[in-house]
Amino acid sequence: MSTSPGGADPARTALPPLSGLPERLEVVPAWDADTPYREWRPQVLIPPAFRPAAPPRVYALVNQKGGAGKTTSTVELGAALAAAGYRVRLIDGDHQEAALSAWLLPQYPEDSPRHSLRSVFFDECTLLEATYPTLFEGLDVVPSGRDLQRVEYERPIGAEGALAAALADEADAGGSPYDVTLIDAAPSLGLVTVAGLTAADQVLVPVKVGGLDLKGMSSLHRTIRSVQRKTNPKLSVGAVLLTSWDKSSFARELAARVAEDYPEAAVIPIRRSIRAAEAPVAEEPIRVYAPDSTAAADYDQAASLLMTREAM
Ligand SMILES: Nc1ncnc2c1ncn2[C@@H]1O[C@H](COP(=O)(O)OP(=O)(O)O)[C@@H](O)[C@H]1O
Ligand SMILES: [Mg+2]
Repeated sequence: MSTSPGGADPARTALPPLSGLPERLEVVPAWDADTPYREWRPQVLIPPAFRPAAPPRVYALVNQKGGAGKTTSTVELGAALAAAGYRVRLIDGDHQEAALSAWLLPQYPEDSPRHSLRSVFFDECTLLEATYPTLFEGLDVVPSGRDLQRVEYERPIGAEGALAAALADEADAGGSPYDVTLIDAAPSLGLVTVAGLTAADQVLVPVKVGGLDLKGMSSLHRTIRSVQRKTNPKLSVGAVLLTSWDKSSFARELAARVAEDYPEAAVIPIRRSIRAAEAPVAEEPIRVYAPDSTAAADYDQAASLLMTREAM
């Protein structure tokens, strides 16, 4: 890495706190099922047993459906946590172009080999050597390109446990320089996604309101349970993010449904905002591109509910 993780660097844009507008959503311990949906406002469900997490923390953002909001949620939660002072690393687990690594451009040093997540799977470098600063302070990235697909075809030894092992190596070498690692999964439940789930403390499940696929949700549920049983017993579901939320009876039904499926998880609506779709083109997090947008506010609130500095 060319700069110290999360360190102040004049060449990097600082991620400031938001102004507090638009307003934060109401936080409730149980859904209000009585209000007619026309009057129902989006609420954040925090079940009584939910506890915010203290660093170091690893989250995998998983949903095998494309367009669910995984990449947007990874970038925006990461940017919100970096703005709150956490040292954040984002791992691009998707081989498709125009994803995370094209949104937050990794700043490669000159005259040295360019590593990526693939190099970590094939033991060519450490996770830290594959981590690069972005143009935003406190926000670093492990990039990926099309060659990440080779992991699925060639199945390097111990691939399912490769990310967990890479993180454990960091911990052994004196602790991770990152408070939070967010893994942006591909739209599949392939080997790289399973490696992400195996390395994570918690899964965050983005679901696009209007794009719900019940069969897909239950196969995701099964995958999570099977990872819990076989490769990562500590894994839990931290939150379901209802992305591109808009006011409809369907959004409310969906919210009720995921709260039933994942009773231990926070259920967090992220309101639809046209600015969210524009931010990747501008190569900026939404909170920089449109700090007054509902999407920036909702991700900011989500980040503050998920993490705390105090050990609980
Ligand atoms: N809150 C939102 N409001 C409007 N559009 C959104 C919002 N969140 C995500 N999108 C858009 O939805 C599309 C899919 O999001 P993306 O994060 O790429 O999903 P995934 O990574 O799961 O495939 C993108 O075009 C993105 O800009
Ligand atoms: Mg994506």
